[in-house]
Amino acid sequence: MSGEKETLMMLDWSDLDSPPARPLSPAPAGYAPPADAGGLGEIDRSGARVSVDDKRMINARADVNQLLPLKYKWAWEKYLSGCNNHWMPTEVSMQADIALWKSRDGLTEDERRAIKRNLGFFAASESLVANNIVLAIYRHLTNPECRQYLLRQAFEEAVHTHTFQYIVESLGLDEGELFNMYREVPSITDKAAWALKHTRHLDDAEFATGTPEADQAFLRDLVAFYVVFEGMWFYTGFAQILSLGRRNKMVGIAEQYQYILRDESIHLNFGIDVINQIRIENPHLWTPAFQDEVRAMLKDAADLEAAYGRDTMPNGFLGLNAALCEQYMHFIANRRCAQIGLAPVFAETPNPFPWMSETMDLKKEKNFFETRVIEYQNGGALAWD
Ligand SMILES: [Fe+2]
Ligand SMILES: [Fe+2]
Repeated sequence: MSGEKETLMMLDWSDLDSPPARPLSPAPAGYAPPADAGGLGEIDRSGARVSVDDKRMINARADVNQLLPLKYKWAWEKYLSGCNNHWMPTEVSMQADIALWKSRDGLTEDERRAIKRNLGFFAASESLVANNIVLAIYRHLTNPECRQYLLRQAFEEAVHTHTFQYIVESLGLDEGELFNMYREVPSITDKAAWALKHTRHLDDAEFATGTPEADQAFLRDLVAFYVVFEGMWFYTGFAQILSLGRRNKMVGIAEQYQYILRDESIHLNFGIDVINQIRIENPHLWTPAFQDEVRAMLKDAADLEAAYGRDTMPNGFLGLNAALCEQYMHFIANRRCAQIGLAPVFAETPNPFPWMSETMDLKKEKNFFETRVIEYQNGGALAWD
């Protein structure tokens, strides 16, 4: 990564953490469906100007084509943060990775298996997440500042998919093998199928929010993709590759994963803020039974990840193994529960990868693959060994 990339500022992650679960306000009166949730209907020539009070996350009656006045400043701030973090995978040198990948004994068979499965999982998952944003979430989130962020996020998912194309091309990997793993490797297929189950009906042209059942279906989709896919499953994937990078293996891919992780942290925190804001505006949706259902979703997701971990790392390598990844998933699942105001689903578990938190907390990154130190907006340092 070149030195002029000073726009690659690091974020103050503490600012992006979702606020703690807030007290819920009374239920809104009535469930009138929005006049024009999409924003492409007939223009209301005589309508009043939008006021902040008219804006709502779902089922809004306010014109969705008017960004200002802003109501949800957290969404706008995340849009600005995403823009400040712009990067492209082709800016990262792959020379060291190519040499290591082509060397006869630079990597063990266990490492190669884990790397390929990891890449295969991410390669298709980035597209699944992007499709869900564009074809399901965007239609039903009736707020322009949130849509502004979704447009930025959709582009970032395209950059992430580009990353896997670039890795496949650089290392000379079998593109068919990698991009079909989500269909052909059962432990990856199980995860993709679980998430798709929650988005399929939102993709239906007939689906509309506006009833408690439909609004809960929308919440399930948000949980499946933001909290589980991006907020849980991606994190074990990051841990695998960044662990290799810390030991000076596949350093180009590890650097790209750092940038993806930085983007995904904002995606996750946006999703959590969206879910919590919908809860605040629609407390009648967040029933005890629905909370139990969401907790069960997170537990299922952790179990699927444990199975994937056993499949990806049957023997373990470099201090990583399936048991530690399962422990990490329990730690993460409990943290996600707390972020959306739910009781934990697992017994209290220490974080087996504390260095992952350091990775996310870094404010000034020492570029450990080169001699150059990139200055970011805030102070702080990261030790990579
Ligand atoms: Fe992504
Ligand atoms: Fe994402």
